[in-house]
Amino acid sequence: MIKDPSEFRREAHRMADRIADYFEEIGSYPVKSQVKPGEILSLLPEQPPALPEEIQDIMADFERVIMPGITHWQHPDFHAYFPANSSYASVLAEWLTAALGQQAMIWETSPAATELEERVMQWMKQMFGLPLHWTGVLQDTASASTLAALLTAREKCTGFITNSEGFPSASGLRIYASTETHSSIEKAVKIAGFGRKNLVKVPVDKNFALDAEALEQAIRRDLSEGFTPCCVVATIGTTGSTAVDPVRKTGEICRKYHVWLHIDAAFAGTALILPEMRHFADGLELADSYVFNPHKWMFTNFDASAYYVSDPELLIRTFEILPEYLKTRTRGKVNDYRDWGVALGRRFRALKLWFVIRNFGTEGIRETVRKHLEMASWLSERIGESDDFTLMAPVNFSLVCFRFTPSHIREAEHLNELNQELLARLNSSGKLYLSHTLLNGSYCLRMVTAQTYIGQHHVENAWKIILETSKKLNDEKYMG
Ligand SMILES: Cc1ncc(COP(=O)(O)O)c(C=O)c1O
Repeated sequence: MIKDPSEFRREAHRMADRIADYFEEIGSYPVKSQVKPGEILSLLPEQPPALPEEIQDIMADFERVIMPGITHWQHPDFHAYFPANSSYASVLAEWLTAALGQQAMIWETSPAATELEERVMQWMKQMFGLPLHWTGVLQDTASASTLAALLTAREKCTGFITNSEGFPSASGLRIYASTETHSSIEKAVKIAGFGRKNLVKVPVDKNFALDAEALEQAIRRDLSEGFTPCCVVATIGTTGSTAVDPVRKTGEICRKYHVWLHIDAAFAGTALILPEMRHFADGLELADSYVFNPHKWMFTNFDASAYYVSDPELLIRTFEILPEYLKTRTRGKVNDYRDWGVALGRRFRALKLWFVIRNFGTEGIRETVRKHLEMASWLSERIGESDDFTLMAPVNFSLVCFRFTPSHIREAEHLNELNQELLARLNSSGKLYLSHTLLNGSYCLRMVTAQTYIGQHHVENAWKIILETSKKLNDEKYMG
């Protein structure tokens, strides 16, 4: 067992080297782990060790047992899902965070964590052109932020009765979101007590964005049937295709019917650092709450979710609870962030954001994000020029949705199967990692170009592999 600082120093130096080696060699690993289910578990002893083990022995097992089961999210050829970006600055800060082991539940338990969080949240309002009257707090995930939004909307809607009395029976509070909304909305609706059946899925237009007219019709219909419209969740950058719901129109409808508007910009929110991308957020000032995840695209390792509200009093009233042991003399004069979300205990997340923002500089973040957008445009142009591939959704940010559509295959089912097979082959090659989505029933490949250390050559190489693999697949299936 490490017992003193000198031993720790020795191991920490080794660890720093191991981490630096990892980043240096990351390109040599298969992007997606190639292990089979249960393979890692079978290599782990069933009993915990009774006696202390040396760090070097643990590290040997880390290399032998754990590393093969790692999917390399920081690999520049990782293009799946949305990224969970890290960066050198973020890793260094996270190391410090672990060492300090702060529990930032109230100001008194960590004044620096609290006040740095306040400042960083203010900085990000300026960086992303967010309404300056908003107030921000860090949550762990967008899922938790959206849950906070729905709970606050619920309390506002029921005059804080639900907090004290429980859900009024037959309350019929309705939540609205597009059919393309992220699953975390449905999860929040479920666990916040609204009942899944009260989530109204609003149709989308040809660009997979929420149809504002259909939203208004749904609200009017619900009102006429005795339901209470409570909250609309609009998305800037849906998970499937990064579609952007019409924020201003949605906001105006929400104002008209006194409905809470929550905006989920979990991934695409980072793009608002570019003034030329802010048109996607036109009308943001009409929102009651907003979330974006620096842990997706802003080079800050998981977890860090930025949650903003226009009225912090409503948020605090929803969550606050005051047991004797948490009473302090500073209460009311400072931010006690335990009252701003579900958890009492809070990590010192602001430190890594502070490191990242300072080490990149706002210009550095802007430049990197711009490059990511250019790479996505480059790829969409190649797909546009190709006779064998089809672009399946507008490329609003750094995600390209496309599929293999050789002209001799017409049946929708065959195209879906072909693209599933293509994805499986690409990912099992270990050379790159893409994911998929269904758009209007069509199975599409999703390729994101937003890794922290991605370069144009990675995208060009990925496109080359996609062309080669699809040709081989087509030849084997139909020409041989
Ligand atoms: C649009 C959107 N919202 C919410 C989430 C959930 O994010 P988190 O994992 O931070 O809860 C995602 C995840 O990809 C997302 O794409």
